Amino acid sequence: MTSKNNSSRLYPTSIDIAPETRSKLIELLNQTVATTLDLKTQVKQAHWNVKGMDFYQLHLLFDELATELEEFIDLFAERVTALGGLAMGTVRTAANVSMLPEYPFDILDGKDHITALSDRFAPYAKSLRQNIDASAELGDADTADLYTEVSRVIDKRLWFLEAHLQASAVTSTAALKEVVASN
Ligand SMILES: [Fe+2]
Repeated sequence: MTSKNNSSRLYPTSIDIAPETRSKLIELLNQTVATTLDLKTQVKQAHWNVKGMDFYQLHLLFDELATELEEFIDLFAERVTALGGLAMGTVRTAANVSMLPEYPFDILDGKDHITALSDRFAPYAKSLRQNIDASAELGDADTADLYTEVSRVIDKRLWFLEAHLQASAVTSTAALKEVVASN
């Protein structure tokens, strides 16, 4: 059986959500499990390999992000099983199904790791927001609520990452005035 077939497999359950709706939700959720697992391993890659004068604070921040993502993987995977699905949570599935590109192996500096992680947290945040709407449209307020809960945290984490870059992006008084004027 391919991972595609497995990702929509249904077990019998008396939960009051129609099987075809559950299949669609399970597919969404398994895509999120894969992407979150991929992202967690990429954050760990940064945790181990970051170097430079900000090493220690970034090493700790990245570990905090990875621990949080691990909890989210569990929440999404267990929503799959609550809906009667097969949770697809191996690293091989994650590598095949994740929507993220591979992490760059040729970077060292804290700023480059922050940029690489921001470039991954941003599309991940976008996909979570899309899945809030997708699961609400499928009539599953509980899955929409789970996506909302995680989306709010990931938006905050994207801010934590990007805050490291925003000061250097706005170095001159003229640039700062431009930012103020555009808001
Ligand atoms: Fe560690």
